[in-house]
Amino acid sequence: MRTQVGIVGAGPAGLLLSHLLALRGIDSVVVETRSRAYCEARQRAGVLECGSVQVLREAGLAARLDRQGLEHGGIYLQFGGKRRHIDFRDLTGGGTVTVYAQTEVVKDLIAARVAAGGAIEFEIGDTEVSAITSDRPVLRYTSPDGTRHEVECDAIVGCDGFHGICRDAIPAGARTVWEAGYPYAWLGILADVAPSTDELIYCHHPAGFALHSLRSPRVSRLYLQVAPDEDIAKWPDDRIWDELQRRFALPGWELTEGPVLEKGITPMRSFVSSPMRYGRLFLAGDAAHIVPPTGAKGLNLALADVTVLAGALTSLLAGGRSELADAYSDACLERVWRATHFSWWMTTMLHATPGAGPMESQLQLSQLRYVTSSRAAATSLAENYVGYRPVAMPG
Ligand code: FAD
Ligand code: DHB
Repeated sequence: MRTQVGIVGAGPAGLLLSHLLALRGIDSVVVETRSRAYCEARQRAGVLECGSVQVLREAGLAARLDRQGLEHGGIYLQFGGKRRHIDFRDLTGGGTVTVYAQTEVVKDLIAARVAAGGAIEFEIGDTEVSAITSDRPVLRYTSPDGTRHEVECDAIVGCDGFHGICRDAIPAGARTVWEAGYPYAWLGILADVAPSTDELIYCHHPAGFALHSLRSPRVSRLYLQVAPDEDIAKWPDDRIWDELQRRFALPGWELTEGPVLEKGITPMRSFVSSPMRYGRLFLAGDAAHIVPPTGAKGLNLALADVTVLAGALTSLLAGGRSELADAYSDACLERVWRATHFSWWMTTMLHATPGAGPMESQLQLSQLRYVTSSRAAATSLAENYVGYRPVAMPG
């Protein structure tokens, strides 16, 4: 088999890349270990920056997003018994974010690829990439019927997430990795109940962080800070709601409870691997970098990487010019480091570090009072949240 771009992973990065390349006349093959149903149901992120919405719109992928996405012009920060609003529209000259679940982004992308006759192979195994320093790298995999395939490509893109195989195909001596862990995790629930709030609430509490998000006017998404090794079996629904009630409590406001549809625990990590390109192997999204979820950057970074990469690969493969491909890694890493800092800053401002003592909490409260009272500080949070330097769609 032969294709121009072999793409490993059918998450948001791999799927959007394959669509953007097809729009520019570049063919690709996407291979994915999981089933289509699994990819479409995996609960993850929920907030799109305005630049991400713009990219999806310009690529003709936003029909359902424009109908069902919920535009939000701010967030609430809750701390010390107060809830303060950060007004993104006012602070950033009209900037907003859109609440639209990653599950829906993935469904829309898969539907668009299938409708266009794009090649996506689900439930494959034994993915291998080789000859990545040549201009004919090879992608090998085994399809569900046991057939081994070999695809000769012009370039291979690892969109295979943090646990994928592509990053490790770059020799250890040719890359640098930065990594930091956090002494907590998030327990997330999806609940069949109308959100109790009009905007997301990020809540600082001595017992730990809590976040009230949503998926639709009838479905809520809520998160609680828990221990990194927390056992989900120890969190029956009643205990989760009791803890959410305790952390969000505010006189005159009520958190409405409902049936829990799904629950899970997400570990937290900051991770950056550089460079994001080695020969004809490119990395995009979680394969190259991970941020803790506070600030909702992971999905947006993945979409931004492949938007830049689609232009670079088109220029390389259709135009024979390597400048954009050569600039890809540095161009993306600048945005990645901004989001890595912002996510770390939001995380450490809002979570209770086990054993940290009362000094940490006073410093966090001071920072929270500052970002909710100084226009300069609030603007910094707002411009990072809606997306600092929104990515432009390459020509
Ligand atoms: P992924 O979505 O991870 O896609 C990678 C794909 O590659 C997967 O489908 C995987 O099955 C496939 N794959 C892996 N190995 C192979 C292989 N060897 N061969 C073929 N295919 C392979 N971000 C936020 O902004 N907010 C959140 O609340 C949030 N919650 C999250 C919760 C969890 C549990 C996780 C893991 C992430 C969360 N994120 C969140 C991060 C966000 O979801 C990711 O940044 C985003 O999914 C990145 O997209 P991606 O396409 O790069 O990677
Ligand atoms: C959601 C996740 C986040 O990490 C965040 O900061 C805001 C919202 C969500 O899943 O809705």
